[in-house]
Amino acid sequence: MSAAVILAAVLGGGVFFVARRIFFRRKALKLLRFPAGLMRGKTVIVTGANSGIGRATAAELLKLQARVVMACRDRQRAEEAAQDIKNQAGPNQGEVVVKHLDLASLQSVRSFCDEIIREEPRIDVLINNAGLYQCPYSRTEEGYEMQLGVNHLGHFLLTNLLLDLLKQSAPSRIVVVSSKLYKYGSINFEDLNSEQNYNKSFCYSQSKLANLLFTRELARRLDGTGVTVNALTPGIVRTRLGRHVNIPLLIKPLFMLVSWMFFKSPLEGAQTPLYLACSPEVEGVSGKCFANCEEEQLLSKATDDHTAKRLWDLSESMVGLRG
Ligand SMILES: NC(=O)c1ccc[n+]([C@@H]2O[C@H](COP(=O)([O-])OP(=O)(O)OC[C@H]3O[C@@H](n4cnc5c(N)ncnc54)[C@H](OP(=O)(O)O)[C@@H]3O)[C@@H](O)[C@H]2O)c1
Ligand SMILES: *[C@@H]1O[C@H](CO)[C@@H](O)[C@H](O)[C@H]1NC(C)=O
Repeated sequence: MSAAVILAAVLGGGVFFVARRIFFRRKALKLLRFPAGLMRGKTVIVTGANSGIGRATAAELLKLQARVVMACRDRQRAEEAAQDIKNQAGPNQGEVVVKHLDLASLQSVRSFCDEIIREEPRIDVLINNAGLYQCPYSRTEEGYEMQLGVNHLGHFLLTNLLLDLLKQSAPSRIVVVSSKLYKYGSINFEDLNSEQNYNKSFCYSQSKLANLLFTRELARRLDGTGVTVNALTPGIVRTRLGRHVNIPLLIKPLFMLVSWMFFKSPLEGAQTPLYLACSPEVEGVSGKCFANCEEEQLLSKATDDHTAKRLWDLSESMVGLRG
């Protein structure tokens, strides 16, 4: 008897979840449709393009016939991803170029940019997507806390070194992938590098808030150049971002179920980056943050010009762009 009740509950629950997922998916699956060949002749750089949101973004851009530069830290993983997305992009596709970029090394950022400036006549879109989430305490090659180093500082230097080429290619766009978790952060100027103590969730939030403040200050600096910069928060997406989070073995199946039901697929997660990279609707729009392809209101800590300026100046000296 009780076994039958449990069985019924499990089956009923299963049916409910599947139905819910189908319903939920239909609601979430409003994928963008762009005219074929929209990005023909355009060059787009995507950091962290071998996995998750970056990979889905690169795959869609390739279908739209862009020249996609996949900027990745692991050449083999990048080549495999490149092969996969080429195989799936159909007959009228753009081009893929795989390039090595380790954002945890400012030296690597510099040589990547040198190579781009030497080899690419133009950049139409730069998508700062690569990121790390709650990794154990570690440091970049130059000794900066890893999440701040990769999510913010590496992209800060990358963007600055590519700015001239972006300006020459205007109208051009910069897209910054942030996260709603910025809400739990602040910029800890007293200990930006977490030398005194390391709180991995705070450091992620701090780095994602830094992305938003960077976007704001950069938009101000780029006013009138024809280069726009906008940020986005992708929502919760089923990717490898959580690789450093330990989920107890017993909870894992439940977690898989929940993520399958409620998380966005990488393609869904790529919609807002694609919108900001490609859509004519956001031509000339700059300094904003988007979620689900709509402008998102930010907390005041992400729009504070004084903090944005202070972080910019400090970042400049940390990456060796001044003095
Ligand atoms: N997934 C979500 O729910 C979610 C939510 C909010 C925001 N985001 C943001 O979305 C962005 C993309 O993340 P994802 O979810 O697609 O995660 P993912 O699948 O883990 O992809 C992250 C990418 O960043 C790359 N990366 C990490 N460290 C790097 C380094 N030192 N140099 C160069 N590339 C590096 C990874 O390369 P490897 O494969 O070699 O490690 C990978 O290609 C991140 O900025 C993240 O903060 C994601
Ligand atoms: C770490 O940071 C998070 C987010 O900022 C905060 O909620 C949490 O209380 C902090 N943990 C510790 C141990 O300070």
